[in-house]
Amino acid sequence: MKQENYHFSYEVYDSITDLNEQDAWLLTEARKVTAAAYAPYSSFNVGAVARLANAEIVTGTNQENASYPVSICAERVLLGSVATLYPGIPIQTIAISYHNIHGASNHPISPCGMCRQSLVEYEERVKQPIRLILSGQDGRVIVVEKANSLLPLSLSQPILKTDRPT
Ligand code: THU
Repeated sequence: MKQENYHFSYEVYDSITDLNEQDAWLLTEARKVTAAAYAPYSSFNVGAVARLANAEIVTGTNQENASYPVSICAERVLLGSVATLYPGIPIQTIAISYHNIHGASNHPISPCGMCRQSLVEYEERVKQPIRLILSGQDGRVIVVEKANSLLPLSLSQPILKTDRPT
């Protein structure tokens, strides 16, 4: 048996005012776009905004459904749009924010496990890490250099390949 280790470090800022201008702009857009979420069941409006390698900006918000599992998170709405509008283009940075209609919105958001899996596969598809800026409507901001570090030992394509004769 051998023990392996996983080390993860990330940046924490006290507020949006400590970010550089480009990052602060992206997070401001993510905070604003939460207004376009459709979240009548959770009242937890999430917004995600991507800056692509070709300088385009793409947005996504969570879209819920009366059949709860049909709902889609903001991150996966965004990734679907990016992959469709700009196939093969790397995503440099995604800012993610939320507005909790019935509660506080000042803790950094944390993407769910399904979205982490989707973000990691996009990174692998285009062979470039995605920086994540995570925040609420105000308060602390977390910056993660690559989505992959949020999902160690993730499932990825090579393991699904088969070399069995057909
Ligand atoms: N949600 C997102 O869209 N992104 C996240 O990072 C966290 C959760 C959505 C799913 C659901 O519509 C609502 O927020 C409450 O979980």
